[in-house]
Amino acid sequence: MKPFVLIVLSIGLVFCTGMTGQTGGVRPTPAALRMYADLRHLYIGAAVNTQALRLVPQYKETLSREFNMVVPENVMKWETIHPARDTYRFDEGDQLIAFAQANQMKVRGHTLVWHQQLPAWLTTGTFTRDELLDILHQHINTVVGHYKGQILAWDVVNEAIGDDGGMRASIWSRIIGPDFIDYAFRWAHEADPGALLFYNDYGGEGLGTKSNAIYELVKGMKDRGIPIDGVGLQMHIGIGSRLNPASVTANIKRIGDLGLQVHITEMDVKIQDGSGTQDQRLTAQADVYREITDVCLNAHPCTALLTWGFTDQYTWIPGFTHKADAPLLFDKSYTPKPAYHALMGRLVGDF
Ligand code: G3I
Repeated sequence: MKPFVLIVLSIGLVFCTGMTGQTGGVRPTPAALRMYADLRHLYIGAAVNTQALRLVPQYKETLSREFNMVVPENVMKWETIHPARDTYRFDEGDQLIAFAQANQMKVRGHTLVWHQQLPAWLTTGTFTRDELLDILHQHINTVVGHYKGQILAWDVVNEAIGDDGGMRASIWSRIIGPDFIDYAFRWAHEADPGALLFYNDYGGEGLGTKSNAIYELVKGMKDRGIPIDGVGLQMHIGIGSRLNPASVTANIKRIGDLGLQVHITEMDVKIQDGSGTQDQRLTAQADVYREITDVCLNAHPCTALLTWGFTDQYTWIPGFTHKADAPLLFDKSYTPKPAYHALMGRLVGDF
């Protein structure tokens, strides 16, 4: 181990062990995920609820302490950022960028083309193919241009493949056709040539029908010279629906062989689909976080691991399943859960 790594880690581990600084009144900064992620050249991130970021000091403090990357959960989606045909609203996205820059965090942009959270003016409008292409071009040019140089990676196209591996029916695929994807990546690259451009989807983490379709999609894009840099594996999973780590590793490897990076973009681990006591479920959840952290650390080229939120206080899962859950790394009181310690343990590893 290199000497400077040893020094940094020694300091971190002292803080980990709970030094209180009683004698001099100095309160040490506790060890945090981002310290170890930085040493491993890994981005460790979380989706941000910008309202909580504005209003809840503990939310803001925990986020900036623990993570070196953020992604807006909702505020860069069409319905928020482009609410009327000639109106863009960048205020909430701008606030997140300012927060990230003040705290030396990178930003992922989410998302430029999706079939959900579209404004009514778009979904109820009647457009020809050329008109919709023009609208999409203007949107990408304006949004990516606004954030030029400030976003490390964009989820350019989100969830374009259906669960059966075919192209998902959406306003984009129906009116424009499947080449809306190529257009979107080309226009994003023109608007910010420095941004990494990702295709992002769920359910394609391990080998299977959907990941095969995603693989073929991005391979075709590479073959056609479309500027794509990576694939986002969302990783919305549960303790009752665990992934096979070897299968996820093999999928990441074949994506890497195309010259693309992988980001785990939206990880959360439901406990409602498991069994046992709450403690047993949280232990099983920690096992899943540990497994996936290992996969990302060991499978080239997994360069970022983000969770979709970080405190169980703010998570999309209960609103979606209509059942209580606790899918993230911190509980509702911002106390680190077993899942946090499992992830931290793997980041610290055998330095
Ligand atoms: O903005 C309205 C607000 O005005 C209203 O008062 C409130 C009442 O329910 O609803 C608000 O809209 C909600 C929106 O989030 C913003 O909070 C929607 O109802 C709600 O459906 C929407 O859910 C988001 C979901 O995407 C939409 O499909 C989740 O917060 C967000 O976590 C989720 O994120 C997606 C990723 O973008 C893509 N991958 C899957 C992931 C989980 O679905």
